[in-house]
Order: sequence, then structure tokens, then C-alpha cells
Amino acid sequence: MARQTRTANDPALYDDLAGEWWRPRGVFAVLHWLAAARGALVPAGRPGAVLVDLGCGAGLLAPHVDGYAHVGVDLSRESLALARERGVLAVRGDAAAVPLPDGCADVVVAGEILEHVPDLAAVVAEACRLLKPGGLLVIDTLAATALCRFLAIGVAERIPRIAVRGVHDPALLVDRRELVRECARHGVELTLRGIAPHLGDAARWLARRRETVRMVPVATTAVLFQAWGVKGPADR
Ligand SMILES: C[S@@+](CC[C@H](N)C(=O)[O-])C[C@H]1O[C@@H](n2cnc3c(N)ncnc32)[C@H](O)[C@@H]1O
Repeated sequence: MARQTRTANDPALYDDLAGEWWRPRGVFAVLHWLAAARGALVPAGRPGAVLVDLGCGAGLLAPHVDGYAHVGVDLSRESLALARERGVLAVRGDAAAVPLPDGCADVVVAGEILEHVPDLAAVVAEACRLLKPGGLLVIDTLAATALCRFLAIGVAERIPRIAVRGVHDPALLVDRRELVRECARHGVELTLRGIAPHLGDAARWLARRRETVRMVPVATTAVLFQAWGVKGPADR
């Protein structure tokens, strides 16, 4: 299979695995759980509202948001084709240089993409540039900590159906302080919250007694975390 010859974090992996995106028990199952948790942070949109979904993949967020023109930006053609089938207005592009105008979005979402990009500051700048004043930024990603490297890469990537082997480059996990600082520079004060799969749900899901797994808040942001904030005036 092509993915076995890919290097860590090769974006082509998402084209190789496109057939897995919408399988609730496929290798992207956890992304379905995360999309539901992310969607819960997005209020219903009003007529004309625009949501830009950076690194939208196959549009897993689409069932969890309501009332927006849902614009998805991604590098993966195969994933974008699937997103389009779910009603996403698909735009092929790099999240570090998005071909959309300033201030076009009521909501910008960056779900499970920041830990894949080589230039975090550039993607944050783009996310904030796209937001209207008063617009909402919603993020979830993996923290640059030893605990996260151990759990999300060392352990999770060895469990079939939990994470794809080689999907993460440990060097790209997200420094929470840098993320907060870069967002603040562009006028978005972030609130962070750690989340994790509900263990009972996960056990039942593995035993095929549940269809999905809730993500629940946890005391630490040192592994998987959500972040959100509203765009005000830029700091400097
Ligand atoms: C882990 S998946 C998350 C997909 C989606 N946000 C979700 O949670 O279902 C990461 C996605 O980011 C995309 N991606 C990675 N680097 C990117 C970049 N620089 N610009 C745009 N998309 C990128 C990949 O193609 C992939 O679809």
C-alpha cells in the first residue's frame, strides 16, 4: 500500500487513504469524534454566514455545523472531492496561503491541521486574516509535549483504527504558548481546553457496542486540546 512508503506527515497520505474518510470505523474514526466536538463549539450560522474550514479533509465537520456556507480548504484533491459531495465549497490550497479574501469568514476552523503544518505562524496569520472582526476561531490540535509524543504517536499510531502510522511528525506538534502568542498578535485571545475520548465510550466502541465516542474535557491541555477565541483588534 502506498502509505507504507510515505515519509512522516506526507500530505499525499490523505489521497492514498481517501476511501477511509467516511468509514465510521475506518482509520479516521477518531476524526469523526473530534469533528463532533469541534462542531459543538460553533454556534448556528445566520443567513449569509461563512465558515472557512482549513484542512477540511473530506468535510467531516459538515454534519456538525448548521447555517453556514461551508468553505473547505485543503491540499488533498481526493479529500476535497469527497468534501464537495457533503456540500462543502471545496478550495484547493495551502492553509499558509489561502486563496480567499481578508475578512470573508464569520468562523474559521482549523481542526487537526496545525500539527501537520511546517509554518504554524503563517497558518495562524491566515486564519486570523480570513476572520471578520468579531468572528470566531476554533482549533483543535496536539500539543508539543513528551506526553503527547508518547500517547498520540508512540501509542496511538500503533493501535489499528485509532491513528495511521506515520501520520504525525513529532517535530510539528504545536507549542501552546506559541499558538496563543501568534493568535494574540492577530487579535484573537484564545481559551484552551484539554479533551480526550470518553473511556467508557471508547471501550464500547471497540466492542462494537457504540457507534461513536464522545470527547470530554480533561484537566490538561498537554495532549489533545481545543482552542477558541473571537477576533478583536490586533495586539501589535
Ligand atoms: C488530520 S486531517 C484533518 C482533516 C479535517 N480537519 C478533520 O478533522 O476531519 C489533516 C488535513 O489537513 C490537510 N493539510 C495538511 N497540510 C495542509 C496545508 N498546508 N494546507 C491545507 N491542508 C493541509 C490534509 O490534506 C488533511 O486533509
